[in-house]
Amino acid sequence: MTLNPSLTTAWEALSRHAAEERAIHVRDLLDDPKRFAQFSCEAQGMLLDYTRQRLDARALELLHDLAANADLSERIEALLRGDTVNNTERRPALHTALRRDAKRPLVVGGRDLMRDVAAERAKLDAFVRGVHSGAIGGSTAQPFRTIVNIGIGGSDLGPVMAVEALACFRRDLEVRFVSNIDGCQIADVVASCDPARTLFVICSKTFTTLETMTNARIAREWIAERLGSAALSKHFAAVSTNHKAMDEFGVNPDYRFTMWDWVGGRYSIWSSIGLALALAVGTEHFKAFLDGGAAIDEHFASAPFAQNLPVLLGLLGAWNVNFLGTPSHAVLPYDQRLHRFPAYLQQLEMESNGKRVHRDGKPVDHATGPVLWGEPGSNAQHSFFQLLHQGTADVAMDFIAPVRASNPYQEQQNLALANCFAQAEAFARGQTEAQVRSELAAKGVASAELEALVPHKVHPGNRACSVLLFQRLDPNTLGKLIALYEHKVYVQSVLWDINPFDQWGVELGKKLADKLAPAVRDPGAAGSQPPGVRGLLEYVKRWR
Ligand code: F6P
Repeated sequence: MTLNPSLTTAWEALSRHAAEERAIHVRDLLDDPKRFAQFSCEAQGMLLDYTRQRLDARALELLHDLAANADLSERIEALLRGDTVNNTERRPALHTALRRDAKRPLVVGGRDLMRDVAAERAKLDAFVRGVHSGAIGGSTAQPFRTIVNIGIGGSDLGPVMAVEALACFRRDLEVRFVSNIDGCQIADVVASCDPARTLFVICSKTFTTLETMTNARIAREWIAERLGSAALSKHFAAVSTNHKAMDEFGVNPDYRFTMWDWVGGRYSIWSSIGLALALAVGTEHFKAFLDGGAAIDEHFASAPFAQNLPVLLGLLGAWNVNFLGTPSHAVLPYDQRLHRFPAYLQQLEMESNGKRVHRDGKPVDHATGPVLWGEPGSNAQHSFFQLLHQGTADVAMDFIAPVRASNPYQEQQNLALANCFAQAEAFARGQTEAQVRSELAAKGVASAELEALVPHKVHPGNRACSVLLFQRLDPNTLGKLIALYEHKVYVQSVLWDINPFDQWGVELGKKLADKLAPAVRDPGAAGSQPPGVRGLLEYVKRWR
């Protein structure tokens, strides 16, 4: 049994140290010329600059003690060798196997998983090549023009984020995504696609998810009505652990892909759930993407913690959440192609670490996962940055940026970088009353007006910011970026002693929705419902 993290000596020392540190403003630390070298780390073609985090060398040292108290090294090994780290579902979490070099065996429970993984990769590659060459086409023998991924959560967010991020590497195929339960997305897709040239890819680990199965059935009817039932076997591929359900749905056995219960939905982009991505960018780029993830796994397993990017990200996050009391975390990519990355991270981080009990079921007595959100800069600068600069909420931030443009307009990326760095500086340093006064005075603002304006123009600063910089957004780098955050999440789960691989919290609402569906369909025969629900159903009856 592990010790409650908040009772460890490191935790207590960090709490005491944070109380002292709160009196220090990060701007007072930033002018130290040695700070950048001490508070940055370059590895795997990525630079993590955490000079603008509100911490000193002592805090960092204590955070490393916290990692030692939590047996982080041993727990990383346990994850990577396939121990039962998901204790409530009694299984390992082996997403790392999906990107591992297939020549390196990984024996778990007496079986070399890499043989299964390699066979599945080969099947996926052959299918993707077939679609690209036209050898695999629609029922009228025309090559596919549109791929429609139907899935939700991990069976959607990873593929859609990655397809958007790697738009520059895309083949000549349109890739669309349908996830939501309301009919908007599926209606848009069927209104604008040519059935004869459309391949639906149904992604669902369980093949029972309401949203996915509802949308898949609509797609099946749409194809059957336009091309006849015999065409169905040519227009649907599927990825799932549930082979019986794929069979019952009528998915052609050659178009069925597998995944394993040891892959969590939000960690599944590396499996055949990545089929839409592989179709979008081709097998070589998909391989480069997997290799990027594998490179971070190696780094995570072997780099000393002081130079270990996921460990550093995890420790910094814990410092902000647990010791500085910052409950919110914004992710701000300065590359429009990463516009779905914050949404992807929301599931990864919040479904993983949104927990309130330890692994042994005892309640936690400290904060766990922060609320994560974000938007690409510089759009974000013109929407919510005001609140971050001068509002009362405290939010930690990750600025993420490639140095090179993934489009012909490098000068625009230079401007994006200038904005990214400027914002990080502004958030950290802020603007003092004295600075505001001298700026206004230099402009010749009259004293009464100056006095009235000063409080409005002060920026408190002292916001915790990290900058994550890399050369360019390509498949390999995207793989690294995702794996980096996956392992950060794991590090934090170890520090907090929680299970990041289950998600019981999404079950309750699902069950209630199942029960309520007949009542919404027919509010007249709603039966016995709680008073609040009865009130809503009354309006459904009146307004539908
Ligand atoms: O939202 C809960 C969840 O179980 C996620 O963890 C998962 O990614 C998503 O639903 C979709 O599940 P499936 O792939 O089984 O359809």
